[in-house]
Amino acid sequence: MTNFILLLISLLFCQNLHSKPVIIAHRGASSYLPEHTLPGVSLAYGLGADFIEADLVLTKDGQLVVLHDIFLEYTSNVASLFPARKRSDGHWYAIDFTLNEIKEMHVYERKNSQNINEQKYKQRFSNIGKIFKVPTFDEFIMLVDGLNKTLKKNVGIYPEIKRPKFHEFEGYDITDLFMKKIFEYQNKKMLPQTFIQCFEPETLKKIYYEYRPSIPLIQLIDENNWQTLGLDKNMVKALQEIKSYSVGIGPSLNNTLFKDHDQMIKKTLLAQFAQSEKLLLHPWTARKDDLPTWAVSFDDLIEKLVKNSQIDGIFTDFTDLTKSLIEAYTSSK
Ligand code: G3P
Ligand code: CA
Repeated sequence: MTNFILLLISLLFCQNLHSKPVIIAHRGASSYLPEHTLPGVSLAYGLGADFIEADLVLTKDGQLVVLHDIFLEYTSNVASLFPARKRSDGHWYAIDFTLNEIKEMHVYERKNSQNINEQKYKQRFSNIGKIFKVPTFDEFIMLVDGLNKTLKKNVGIYPEIKRPKFHEFEGYDITDLFMKKIFEYQNKKMLPQTFIQCFEPETLKKIYYEYRPSIPLIQLIDENNWQTLGLDKNMVKALQEIKSYSVGIGPSLNNTLFKDHDQMIKKTLLAQFAQSEKLLLHPWTARKDDLPTWAVSFDDLIEKLVKNSQIDGIFTDFTDLTKSLIEAYTSSK
């Protein structure tokens, strides 16, 4: 019961008392600085994020580090630093390197996975210098908590446990290591308000039923887990099952809105049914330089998300622009 009350309180805080959609800085300030770097976290904080996202994977020595991929080559210089440590499938896996080795690497703006010599988003930060490092989850939490304390603010964190099944196959329980870390910082009163997200429903259920945290969980949804979640068979039943352990869903933009045959922009059935079930809607990811086909501009994207689908939060690469647009569209509601 105590946990339930704490969860309710934390949910009200997390949703900013439902006043307007929360802005979740996707991988830091990734439109302006390389993703998942401490300077990016600080910038996202300064740009006005309500929450800052951290994707998490494990190192060989079981340390949680902030990285989007289980691979290292798209965002670091691992290939030149450790050429012989590539697996036969052509990837350098974070799980094959100790934290000390990962700390030797430098982080760069994300490369194109089809052509590693190109940047994925050409207009973004194009450094060739050695400025950025892979942060640990501890460093990430301490930075946000420290900023909250010095600035007397309440910016949250939004960690995602990446690929739990892959980690299990490699012999690691990332969920257990993650939850221990969450409880450690909660006990030290250093844990900012938090949402926990994951694509794998088994992980969220395990957290909900075995660890019983007073922290809201968000079920991420994309085409890779659509069937696993049973959304292809009975969407309402699947969403009711999701609601038994999570407070909301994180669907892709195209699972939130779509353009119908008459070129009208409509809410998807997933978004409609989720809202009927009173699940929060936190879609991903708003990018000015990678718009969905149904948005003609970034302004248009945010306006449609706010007005056509009444989202509760949005993952964005452009925290500052999203914030000012949300202010504009919610104050004129
Ligand atoms: O976690 C929300 C969104 O970030 C999911 O996509 O691939 O960017 O982690 P990804
Ligand atoms: Ca993520």
